[in-house]
Amino acid sequence: MELRPVSDALGVEAVGADLNALAPDEFDAMYDAWLDNHVLLVRGQELTDPQLVRFTQRFGELDDEVMIANALEWGTQEPGVLVVSNVVEDGVEIGILGSGEAIWHTDMNFLEKPTKASFLLALELPPTGGDTGFVNMELALKTMPSELREKIEGHSIKHDASTDSSGYVKEGFEPVTDVTKTEGAIHSFIRPNTETGRETLYLGRRRNAYVVDAPIAESEALLDEVWKHTLRPEHIWYHQWQVGDLIVWDNRSTMHRRDPFDPNARRIMHRTQVNDTPRPAA
Ligand code: SIN
Repeated sequence: MELRPVSDALGVEAVGADLNALAPDEFDAMYDAWLDNHVLLVRGQELTDPQLVRFTQRFGELDDEVMIANALEWGTQEPGVLVVSNVVEDGVEIGILGSGEAIWHTDMNFLEKPTKASFLLALELPPTGGDTGFVNMELALKTMPSELREKIEGHSIKHDASTDSSGYVKEGFEPVTDVTKTEGAIHSFIRPNTETGRETLYLGRRRNAYVVDAPIAESEALLDEVWKHTLRPEHIWYHQWQVGDLIVWDNRSTMHRRDPFDPNARRIMHRTQVNDTPRPAA
């Protein structure tokens, strides 16, 4: 196995790795490279759902909240495996997120303890579209002008729980009309990564976000300024999927988005997550 950076912004590819037969020292190297590069790509994997879960559990405790937050009917037979897909079978959607754009976000930001890592395995893909972009939030904080950093230091964001990343209002929520009254967790703009201790910018998602205790107009202006800086192209890498690709992203230090694709084409991905708990001993 060889570990190769995929861009100047973030991401590392483990070339030649077989995730079903990874020796402990190879996994250690892969995990450290993931922590340092925030996103891990492994191509050419043929993983069943139980194998995907076993690999996921090498990163931490399997996160069942992924199922509860997204509705249990979009799971597979394997507990903890969620389907991300636009495919409709017998009039029923088999997964979440459809074929539209998924806006920039980090997973489960609306929870007090957001998920640590998300895993996405490509099983069926459209001929074009559906690329997934990742932004390095540690880098975005490092390159932030000091005047902007001073404006966010010591401040927090309320992270709205009402919509998913494709804009659907979730079951049990009403559309938000006043951002000061949204339901969701409050997180500092700048947080340490729970494993590396390195500082990172934490924005969650833009829709219905609110800078706690600020007048709404000020909150909107500050969020717009921070997002504009964050989404500079040099902080971002886009991945064009191939069947058998597995990507693992660190939700503490990245955000991601997905391009839309032809709704008549099929895209099926299987997704798992782990809680923000330390990696188990090998
Ligand atoms: C997601 O936002 O979790 C899914 C990304 C994708 O479908 O590529």
